Amino acid sequence: MTSRTQLNSWKKLQSLAEDIKSTHLNQLFEQNPDRFDNFSLKLDNMLFDYSKNLINQEILDTLIELANDVQLSHWREKMFNAERINLTENRAVLHTALRNRSLSPIMLDGENVTEQVEAQLEKMKGFVQQVRQGSWLGYSNKRITDIVNIGVGGSNLGPQMVTEALKHESDQSVNVHYVSNVDGTQISEVLAPLNPEKVLFIISSKTFTTTETITNANTAVAWLLNKSQDKASIAKHFVAVTANKENAMKFGIDGDSIFSMWDWVGGRFSLWSAIGLPIALDIGFEKFIQLLEGAHEMDEHFKHAPFDQNAPVLLALISLFNCTFLGFKSQAILPYDQSLHMLSAYLQQAEMESNGKSVNWHGEQVPYATVASIWGELGINGQHAFYQYLHQSNNVVPADFIGSIEPVSGLKHHHTTLMANFFAQTQALMTGVNEQQVRQDLKAKGRVQQVIDKIAPHKVHEGNRPTNTLLMSKITPHTIGQLIALYEHKIFSQGILLQICSFDQWGVELGKGLAANIEDELNSDSSCADHDGSTANLIKHYKALAS
Ligand code: F6P
Repeated sequence: MTSRTQLNSWKKLQSLAEDIKSTHLNQLFEQNPDRFDNFSLKLDNMLFDYSKNLINQEILDTLIELANDVQLSHWREKMFNAERINLTENRAVLHTALRNRSLSPIMLDGENVTEQVEAQLEKMKGFVQQVRQGSWLGYSNKRITDIVNIGVGGSNLGPQMVTEALKHESDQSVNVHYVSNVDGTQISEVLAPLNPEKVLFIISSKTFTTTETITNANTAVAWLLNKSQDKASIAKHFVAVTANKENAMKFGIDGDSIFSMWDWVGGRFSLWSAIGLPIALDIGFEKFIQLLEGAHEMDEHFKHAPFDQNAPVLLALISLFNCTFLGFKSQAILPYDQSLHMLSAYLQQAEMESNGKSVNWHGEQVPYATVASIWGELGINGQHAFYQYLHQSNNVVPADFIGSIEPVSGLKHHHTTLMANFFAQTQALMTGVNEQQVRQDLKAKGRVQQVIDKIAPHKVHEGNRPTNTLLMSKITPHTIGQLIALYEHKIFSQGILLQICSFDQWGVELGKGLAANIEDELNSDSSCADHDGSTANLIKHYKALAS
């Protein structure tokens, strides 16, 4: 197989990137009055403007040529058709099957996955109705008022991000809480105000081996038993979502209270499965289905739209160009919608656990930068914190700005102020302000020449900072489904373009293994010779002082 760097399209992009580096985005807009029309896309509920990126038609055409050269559409088909594209784990990648609302059969090893998914959805539906309507009762026959989801990574971030995004859709039949950290502070704080008789725990773990989750789950059991004094109460207060039914049963969860997921769903792509149970409990099953429908709509768009009108593909191509060809190795996610306050945390896992790798499908080191580090914060909060860096540091950080036309709150005038900032920031990041403009402005304000000379260089904004703008209609179950699926397919596409295995996460294993050994060491008098000088002394210091 030809390596990516040998492709003509790849080589051409390298030289086009060199050329465009000396061009300012302002010039690109001056040269082409139709730039917005050429480089934006309208989808249902979403406008995607990518015109404020350092691309021109030739670059875009060459990026699309690259997508064709690497047979992106062929790989896309493989994914949707249940081929084992998770190469290192020999697994299919079927999160799209979880929201296959067309209900068409998807065959894997002779089984129709669609039927398995529908069966779990039916089970979820029944359970959600019982809990929300108050017919699922705790051990003392009290109605469940609080749900505590215990899980980490993909078993936490997706459900919690969506629960937060759709708070306004909740009728508060139940209160949903999340515990992810093994730091006992979190679970203590979550449980302190709750009544064990009215709490239902969801132990969410694909593998049911994750130490942090099992530790929290054990603490939850002890907390319940401390009140109920009856082991039988566990059956009424604990359910699990897992691909490892055996371990969940060993833990003590009733077989009927275990919801399935499958090895063909990656944890970070799993919120569409029963891992999304807390979402469904919060907003109701019908709205959970709307979330799946939104994602399915994006799946259909991704499957069928030509690359030059395909939002996930375009997003991936731009990211690739920014990081791999222009060398911008950091990427900000900046939502201007309070509902999306966890989006950047969610995308950190989705993007960085998927594509934060440096060998290709054949295990060879790749000679190019793969993906940027992802970080971010709500836009307005960021403006008053780190935007200084975005505007004036000498490290260019491309950013995705995500906002909504309609607010979820009734305070419309707040939304106008918010959105004024949203539009102002991408403009400022692109246009900047040069020294001549700064000097004129200071003069107009009556500053004396000496002051002007002193502060003018500090006020210069070079601009030319690439941004994407995603303008959503309003955050609803449907649109949040579309948005997440958009990024999921971006991640998939970028992985194919880079020849990276996007669906494993070997990089998290080394630290996990070491932690298990060190935990034994912390619990005993023994010390391990197998540490470097720094780690050995840190552990020694800790053990000497820890009570
Ligand atoms: O350690 C990383 C990871 O394996 C993630 O990929 C996963 O989402 C998370 O841990 C939780 O895993 P599990 O759902 O198996 O507990």
